[in-house]
Amino acid sequence: MRLRIVVYFHILLSIGVILLFATIGLKLSAKMSVIPASPPKPERQSVTLEDGVYTYHLNLSQFQEEFPQLQSYNCSLLYTPQPVNGGTSPLLLLAIKSHPASVSRRGALRSTWAKSVDIMGYTVRPVFLMALSDMHMEIVKLEKDEYKDILLWDFTEGHHNLSLKERCFLEWLNYNSPQAAFIFKGDDDVFVNPASLVQFIKMRATSPSTLHGALQRHSVVLRYSKYQISKTLFPYSKYPYFLSGGGFLFPGAAVQLLYNASLQLPVFPLDDVYFGFLSLAANLSLRHDSRFYVFGLRFDPCDYQQAFVVHRIEPDYLQKIWKLVQEAQCNGTVPAIK
Ligand SMILES: *[C@@H]1O[C@H](CO)[C@@H](O)[C@H](O)[C@H]1NC(C)=O
Ligand SMILES: *[C@@H]1O[C@H](CO)[C@@H](O)[C@H](O)[C@H]1NC(C)=O
Ligand SMILES: *[C@@H]1O[C@H](CO)[C@@H](O)[C@H](O)[C@H]1NC(C)=O
Ligand SMILES: *[C@@H]1O[C@H](CO)[C@@H](O)[C@H](O)[C@H]1NC(C)=O
Ligand SMILES: *[C@@H]1O[C@H](CO)[C@@H](O)[C@H](O)[C@H]1NC(C)=O
Ligand SMILES: *[C@@H]1O[C@H](CO)[C@@H](O)[C@H](O)[C@H]1NC(C)=O
Repeated sequence: MRLRIVVYFHILLSIGVILLFATIGLKLSAKMSVIPASPPKPERQSVTLEDGVYTYHLNLSQFQEEFPQLQSYNCSLLYTPQPVNGGTSPLLLLAIKSHPASVSRRGALRSTWAKSVDIMGYTVRPVFLMALSDMHMEIVKLEKDEYKDILLWDFTEGHHNLSLKERCFLEWLNYNSPQAAFIFKGDDDVFVNPASLVQFIKMRATSPSTLHGALQRHSVVLRYSKYQISKTLFPYSKYPYFLSGGGFLFPGAAVQLLYNASLQLPVFPLDDVYFGFLSLAANLSLRHDSRFYVFGLRFDPCDYQQAFVVHRIEPDYLQKIWKLVQEAQCNGTVPAIK
């Protein structure tokens, strides 16, 4: 009797074990079969873009000849910022292009507008977009340890390499910060008013495919100066519309489209023009807003309270005016940041 029970028990156990393995096997094979073959990454290629007025052909082999690293560099991060944990509140990311040598600018920004704060239900977070230089890398490491607000890539800082910051920042956004409701991107020598940006976003910036900034309408292509572009690279006399690189604002919903475009288009060696090409390829619309003062603005605390960005503000001056702008009693409805 007892023996029988034991035998039955063993048989049941074996059946159980067999069933268990069979299910695991099924689960495994099911799991394996649902893993999609990763979609082929679109390749960089020559493209032809039209903006309704002009047609632009970007010839990849010409770009590879004149700016090989811009086309081939694989984005590799040495430092990443502390992950943003905004809970349920929407995120406004402030992305600031900064050279390692600009230590005092970053200091002034962190003590004024580039702070982690909550404004009217929005989580505001700064990140500095940086690359390598011969000097100042030790202090950048100290800043990274203390503030955890630095994205550092392993390419070298340089005027044309700013386009790499653009392209690699889009890649980082696409994979790491999909929850950003809006992204402000700008220079490190500017005044920014996050409170007026948040107020604008809440009240006006509803379109997921509209980018806001100081619109440059078919600017002339320069053949001299630091902005010069050769006729072999770009034979046309005008650029498509683009937003001035000093500071502009775009919705998180546009990131994937822009990133996809950045995988395919030749990388243009001027970062704001490059972003214009990406926007055109991604079929996004650019909206001009006069509150992006990329050519500066005479100081008046009430005007600065309404401004989104004012270009060319050096560190000492920024700290001086910041307090005045916060304390000014103006008719506008933009509240100060504590
Ligand atoms: C692209 O540029 C290469 C030279 O770099 C040239 O041989 C080729 O004809 C160009 N293609 C087009 C479509 O313009
Ligand atoms: C970038 O990565 C691709 C694929 O892994 C590789 O073929 C290519 O050589 C890399 N480019 C550089 C400049 O390292
Ligand atoms: C851009 O970065 C690459 C990779 O670090 C470097 O080889 C190149 O010299 C840099 N360009 C400039 C203009 O600094
Ligand atoms: C971006 O590209 C990927 C892969 O090519 C594709 O699956 C995805 O739908 C694209 N996203 C958009 C918004 O076009
Ligand atoms: C671009 O977007 C507009 C609406 O904003 C749409 O009418 C048009 O079909 C789109 N074009 C392409 C090529 O996706
Ligand atoms: C500010 O508001 C007050 C009353 O609301 C008004 O009398 C004054 O003219 C306004 N000043 C400006 C500069 O708009």
